[in-house]
Amino acid sequence: MSLVTREIQTNFAPHLKDSIEDQKLLERLDLEAIPKHIAIIMDGNGRWAQNRRLPRVAGHRAGIESVREVVETAARLKLNILTLYAFSVENWKRPKTEVTMLMRLLKEFLNRELATLMDNDIKFDTLGRTEELSPSIQRELDLAKNKTSRNHGLLFNVALNYGGRAELVDAFKHLWKKKQNDAQDKLNLDEQAIADCLYTAGLPDPDLLIRTSGELRISNFLLWQIAYSEIWVTKTLWPDFRKKDLFEAILSYQSRERRYGGLSTE
Ligand code: FPP
Repeated sequence: MSLVTREIQTNFAPHLKDSIEDQKLLERLDLEAIPKHIAIIMDGNGRWAQNRRLPRVAGHRAGIESVREVVETAARLKLNILTLYAFSVENWKRPKTEVTMLMRLLKEFLNRELATLMDNDIKFDTLGRTEELSPSIQRELDLAKNKTSRNHGLLFNVALNYGGRAELVDAFKHLWKKKQNDAQDKLNLDEQAIADCLYTAGLPDPDLLIRTSGELRISNFLLWQIAYSEIWVTKTLWPDFRKKDLFEAILSYQSRERRYGGLSTE
């Protein structure tokens, strides 16, 4: 094992041991330039299942293993924030059985992984209209949030009942109330005022947005926050996404020059 690999080895599950390919990619990563915030549109669970003549929910179940591996690898790389898009406000249009199964999988994941989140100093949080989810899901989410609230490592954010436009509507309502209560008319209606009312208030925008399954769409995800995110799309379906894919995405990110509308510094 190389020095760099050994340095960031943690107490993760033995099944996550690095393959030779993982180690080679890891050695090429600049550990000083890991993006602070990575957001992922996890897509392709249904197609993964369909390719195997399995029910769609089998794809979601298999996708859980990818979630585990990505969360643990993100913590290991000392990423600050990982935001996963798990359930959109539009996903209620899916068959009730699929929605129920997705909620059940989320509950199972939190139940099973809470100890791992604690062991690895990971803080859990959500973005979205979670108050519209069932009371039993809300209880599970609150438990995980409260239990991990004092952790200081990776912030693991799950977008649940989330929509980028819904978030903007909620933010504008919030801002409207603030403005009405602003007796001295001190509140500036600028970009910062809007950012402060988003679900992500106080968090840096994603540096890197990953989408799996090859679709070239944003799907109503973090519309405000991804204004200057670097985008990386892979044809890999979410259930097949492994740490090597995350390493490849970060390597691509590290090869880019971010200009934010300015000119090249070279
Ligand atoms: C997209 O695939 C995936 C989803 C809508 C759900 C993702 C959810 C999980 C992996 C499980 C729960 C998450 C956590 C964080 C524990 P799709 O069904 O749209 O795939 P398709 O486009 O091939 O049909």
